[in-house]
Amino acid sequence: MAPLILAHGGAGRRPMTRAQKQYLSAALQVGYHLLERGAPAMTVVEQTIRVLERSGVFNAGLGARLQLDGVRRMDASIMEGKGLQAGAVASIEGIVHPITAARLVMEETDHVLLVGPMATAFAAQFKLERQRISAPKRRLSYGALLKRKRPLGNRHGTVGAVALDRFGTVAAGASTGGIARMLPGRVGDTPLIGCGVYADNHAGAVSMTGVGEGIIRMAVAKEICDRLTGGEAPKAAARHVLNKLVTRIQGSAGTLVLAPDGRFAIAHVTPHMTAGWCNGRGEPVVRDRFR
Ligand code: GLY
Repeated sequence: MAPLILAHGGAGRRPMTRAQKQYLSAALQVGYHLLERGAPAMTVVEQTIRVLERSGVFNAGLGARLQLDGVRRMDASIMEGKGLQAGAVASIEGIVHPITAARLVMEETDHVLLVGPMATAFAAQFKLERQRISAPKRRLSYGALLKRKRPLGNRHGTVGAVALDRFGTVAAGASTGGIARMLPGRVGDTPLIGCGVYADNHAGAVSMTGVGEGIIRMAVAKEICDRLTGGEAPKAAARHVLNKLVTRIQGSAGTLVLAPDGRFAIAHVTPHMTAGWCNGRGEPVVRDRFR
């Protein structure tokens, strides 16, 4: 089984920047070297995403966007395909690596998803690296925020990864600061298993990026996996579901899809998607368009 790592830095209107290309390439190389040394897919996904969260050039971790009240609340999830184990956090604050908090939820609790201040308190128990908590800039009432125009943003930069290890196990993860101009407390697809991520050794691994509201309503990651189980190739499964997302509900998204036999697809219905993989020689292949 040839191990494989794919990662993304979001899908949207904007082309990839030079810094994003550099960090995504570096993250893929970290993942590739871990796979070469026999690391499990779960560790590879976590460590790859940590590089992207730390970079500050994507909408995750140190670069996560702020909600309308000026507070940075982040979401992340991770899942492995052998035992279908998963962990997630939503609306977590003040840490650099929500993906590690998600993994800890999976490994250290009997739960799948922790949210809000209690997710932040959970992370504090494990002394995860902290970032400054952003204080609300303006004391606007929720009613005032609700009256604001809230176009769903196009500047997505959610990060994610999928991996296949040498033992044939797949894993998927994602981490985000959400979308532009979101209400305080809004949660997207990223921490929702079956929506933003899914991994099953009998199907494959999927990591989504895009506007979470549409991705949630169609449980996109699980639907792509179900199509893989039904015999569709990764590219066909991705295209089918993304097209349905657009035609049924005018959604906007991009996806990484990795089958347990190593076939994979990167697909998007946005003008750009920053993503890539490592080829057999460990060289990152990173682009911002995949057709
Ligand atoms: N896909 C990221 C979000 O909607 O929050």
